Amino acid sequence: MLVEAIFSGLCPYEEPGLPELMVDLHKTGRLTATTNTAEASAKSDAIIVIVPAHLTANQTIDFSILQQASREIGKGLQPGTLVIYETTVAVGGTRQYLIPVLEKQSGLKVSKDFYVAYSPERVKANLILARLETTPKVVGGYDAVSSDRAVALYKQYLKAPVDDVGTLEAAEMTKLLGMLYRDVNIALANELAAFCEVAGVDFERVRKSANTDGEANLLLPGIGVGGHCVPVYPYFLTRESRRLGIVQRIPEAAREINDQQPARELDRVAALWKPLHGQRVHILGLGFRPGVKVEAFSPAYALRDALQQRDARVTIQDPHYTDEDLRQAGFEPGVAEAARMVVLSTAHEEFAHPDFAAWRRAGVEIILDGRNFWDQNQAETAGLLYFGIGRASRLERH
Ligand SMILES: NC(=O)c1ccc[n+]([C@@H]2O[C@H](COP(=O)([O-])OP(=O)(O)OC[C@H]3O[C@@H](n4cnc5c(N)ncnc54)[C@H](O)[C@@H]3O)[C@@H](O)[C@H]2O)c1
Repeated sequence: MLVEAIFSGLCPYEEPGLPELMVDLHKTGRLTATTNTAEASAKSDAIIVIVPAHLTANQTIDFSILQQASREIGKGLQPGTLVIYETTVAVGGTRQYLIPVLEKQSGLKVSKDFYVAYSPERVKANLILARLETTPKVVGGYDAVSSDRAVALYKQYLKAPVDDVGTLEAAEMTKLLGMLYRDVNIALANELAAFCEVAGVDFERVRKSANTDGEANLLLPGIGVGGHCVPVYPYFLTRESRRLGIVQRIPEAAREINDQQPARELDRVAALWKPLHGQRVHILGLGFRPGVKVEAFSPAYALRDALQQRDARVTIQDPHYTDEDLRQAGFEPGVAEAARMVVLSTAHEEFAHPDFAAWRRAGVEIILDGRNFWDQNQAETAGLLYFGIGRASRLERH
């Protein structure tokens, strides 16, 4: 299906600018697709691999899809070809788990017959084309020739600055560092926000001020962290690190803190308002980030599960998803007006200005603003009980 779409110039993804680009490439015959990887490999001077690596149930990295793709590439691999892996992997993954597959399947020797580099994909859905030419492309080669060839390739077609960090492992680590930094920073914000809720300080107000000293860069607290990357890739490092006998205490704690955000906020609400048992609770937002239709590891799932564990009746809405999409994701579509409690999970712009008074008239009593997106005063003036992340509710204020 994907191959057919590409052949007909249709863009199968929601990405600003991409449909137009694909039409252009289609017209000029510069984009083709195939499922015959071995044949494509045999015809290519350079091969970029970006099939996913998932987490196993016990949170270790699963290389099987990458290894399967490498086997197929190896079947057609020709002397002189450059293979670049872009999928996020554990440090050492390319050297230990992927290059041996290419060598075994092709009978060729890396560095002597073919070349390998690793270059993490660091783009952000919905901003891919906007950032492609400005986000430096990090590259690490198996050897100097591999690095030089990868740098030359990216410089030629990407136009972004290319940053050769020296080795496969350095390039793999660069991506994981970025993910860990975000996760730990958000966890810190979440913990400090929890303190502010009881101390009567608006965390968002002080976060902004703290960040003006040119040193601090505290990120936003929230109801949870979603997406393919931040909730997943820290494990690629922490599990590997444990295996080597080094415990990454801060990243491990950060994962736990961020995963527990939905449950923590629901317990806060239940303790101050009323038990959630039997309550109708409506979630706003399935997409893990504003403006996107991507629900991988969305906090909405953890929210739904935590609410159901507390015997609440859960509904959801998201302007990017049809009712059918929502059902397929395991949710019941609904509207805020039918609920007692509304939880904002995603700060989609369509949710920016709700009619709080209408909600209150319809029977909504309480809102949990999981993104500090709404005006607390406005909500309280309309008679709603407002809970924000790091913002004391009326019941917590001294
Ligand atoms: N999506 C993002 O925003 C993003 C951002 C940064 C980095 N990445 C990196 O890119 C990788 C791929 O992400 P994605 O969102 O494109 O993933 P994806 O699940 O959409 O898969 C990418 C491609 O791999 C193919 N594929 C999936 N499973 C396969 C299998 N078993 N055999 C053969 N082909 C298979 C899919 O058809 C698709 O064409 C991630 O693992 C990550 O390391 C993604």
